[in-house]
Amino acid sequence: MRRRVLVAFLMLAVLSHSAKAAGDPAAGEKIFQRCRACHQIGETARNAVGPKLNGLIGRPAGSIEGYTYSPANKNSGIVWDEPTFRDYIKAPQAKIPGTKMTFPGLKADKEVDDVVAFLKQFDADGKKK
Ligand code: HEC
Repeated sequence: MRRRVLVAFLMLAVLSHSAKAAGDPAAGEKIFQRCRACHQIGETARNAVGPKLNGLIGRPAGSIEGYTYSPANKNSGIVWDEPTFRDYIKAPQAKIPGTKMTFPGLKADKEVDDVVAFLKQFDADGKKK
């Protein structure tokens, strides 16, 4: 009996964890409104105050052509995989000291999950995968 309770508990833990890690792209689109002041995404996206964010996950930092990055970003040596981006978006100036992105960061893990799910939809041409 005890073991059954334990198994049920573990399954619940696993389920709630995977649900949390998934992220909700629709909620992420709302959070992206805060980024839109400076960033565009999608097929018609152009560089603005910040670089366009198409195909972000998996590409090296500072790699969007025609955008003038700060040396800090350009030479960071970062590749935007998911864990690195998560760290960054919580505290951009801490992850890349000297960056010209003046955004304080997202505080809640849920916001980060959702914005990752939103960004991951767009390939390098801004098409939804
Ligand atoms: C006030 C303007 C502003 C806001 C708001 C902003 N950013 Fe930025 N972002 C920038 C600028 C400027 C850069 C270029 C940084 C540099 O060159 O140092 C940048 C760079 C980045 C980069 C690195 C891109 C690359 O090609 O290496 C990522 C990723 C990023 N921003 C994501 C976000 C996300 C996601 C949000 C919203 C949660 C956001 N930013 C909000 C201005 C902003």
